[in-house]
Amino acid sequence: MANIVIVGTQWGDEGKGKIVDLLAEYSDYVVRFQGGNNAGHTMVVNGEQFVSHLVPSGIIQGKTCLIGNGMVVDPEVLINEIDYLTEKDVDVTSLRLKVSEKAHLIMPYHKALDKAREDSNKKKQIGTTGRGIGPCYEDKAARRGIRFMDLLDSGFEENLQGVAEEKNFYLKHFYKSDPVDIDEMIDQYRNFRERLAPYVSDISVLIDNALREDKKVLFEGAQGTHLDIDHGTYPYVTSSNTVSGNACCGSGIGPKKIDKIIGIVKAYTTRVGKGPFPTELFDDTGDLIQQKGAEFGATTGRRRRCGWIDAVMLKNAVRLNSLTGFAVTKLDVLGGLDYINICTEYRHKGKSVARFPTSLNMLAECEPVYETVPGWKEDISGVRSYQELPENTRNFLARIEALTETPVEIISVGPGRNETIMLSNPFG
Ligand code: GDP
Ligand code: IMO
Ligand code: MG
Repeated sequence: MANIVIVGTQWGDEGKGKIVDLLAEYSDYVVRFQGGNNAGHTMVVNGEQFVSHLVPSGIIQGKTCLIGNGMVVDPEVLINEIDYLTEKDVDVTSLRLKVSEKAHLIMPYHKALDKAREDSNKKKQIGTTGRGIGPCYEDKAARRGIRFMDLLDSGFEENLQGVAEEKNFYLKHFYKSDPVDIDEMIDQYRNFRERLAPYVSDISVLIDNALREDKKVLFEGAQGTHLDIDHGTYPYVTSSNTVSGNACCGSGIGPKKIDKIIGIVKAYTTRVGKGPFPTELFDDTGDLIQQKGAEFGATTGRRRRCGWIDAVMLKNAVRLNSLTGFAVTKLDVLGGLDYINICTEYRHKGKSVARFPTSLNMLAECEPVYETVPGWKEDISGVRSYQELPENTRNFLARIEALTETPVEIISVGPGRNETIMLSNPFG
């Protein structure tokens, strides 16, 4: 039995979708446990690209995919994604895809509030994806959320009416923006209910039954460790726990069921949205990485900020997630550089800082301390074995392993499923 959690170690977009698609071949179920359509996961199979925002990335491999209770789901986006995947001949019927009855629904007023807040104070902008993620999780915590179970229940319309009136008050009188049309929204969600009802299920029980039959389950994280609501660069974070511990809570299983936890590490660092970023590059090298890595957000199309790999962050991710191994992605993008910098510690007001700081002010003032290693000139995108990698590439990987005390198990050298070197299969 092997149940594996995949999480991002940085600020998202590490290539989780590619690795989940790859490993889904060896698993029976793929479960997403947090986040919503703020995520954008890209898979490339035989030259064809698939982008998913809500449906777990195991769907292309024909695996049973589960949307966990820890997720927030915009039903319109889910329906569009089901249609998009169906058009691409992917089986997304209710036999393949299940949605937790406890997952929360993103409502039109969540999106309106997300946008109104971001627009109301430019200085305090988080740079959210504008998908209503934060306001939806707020309502979950405030016990005013609407779950799939509530959508199916008889009191749905009345319940929604009360909540929406309060939201419209904020929108109209505090943010001076347009309220939502409550009747129109109720009609719209009645249609969503009809379309999505067959997908709604008790995910916790489904997973438990699967585990009793010795099935293998892959848990797909979204965002990254440093966007975690508790452990990330708060307030420049998303509104859910992105760390591996939430794989259990967000899908309804206990921690004893998890066997391995793989952290996805981009060979450099990127970030979309605001917030401090110690190794950020503002020079030609940063532009080169951004262009060669095609670093544009899969959800909002925003240009991703780029910088060197940061071992202080990676060590933080190892501890916070109990990582058992790394998958290093986008290694091909670094090809052609004369040298590569690896941040090994920070300096703050002349003092060494080895631990990722909690104070954002301090983090913003931290200077990265770099270990410089030689780059490689070769194009490694065609390499399929560790031995064939240039010596400098292997040395770079060895330094990451040594600095973080974590083994590299998978190396990705291109976006395609086959552009991968598997040093050890986490499923055994
Ligand atoms: P995710 O959110 O973690 O799933 O990552 P995204 O899909 O948002 O961003 C990763 C991008 O890099 C996607 O466009 C992938 O197709 C691409 N990608 C993944 N692995 C590699 C790789 O090893 N090399 C290159 N060149 N691109 C990759
Ligand atoms: P994947 O799963 C990168 C960022 C946003 C913003 C902050 C809060 O593709 O790695 P939110 O809309 O969640 O309230 O925005 O979090 N963010 C991501 N950045 N990849 C993601 O997902 C992200 N999801 C949210 O840019 O800075
Ligand atoms: Mg992404």
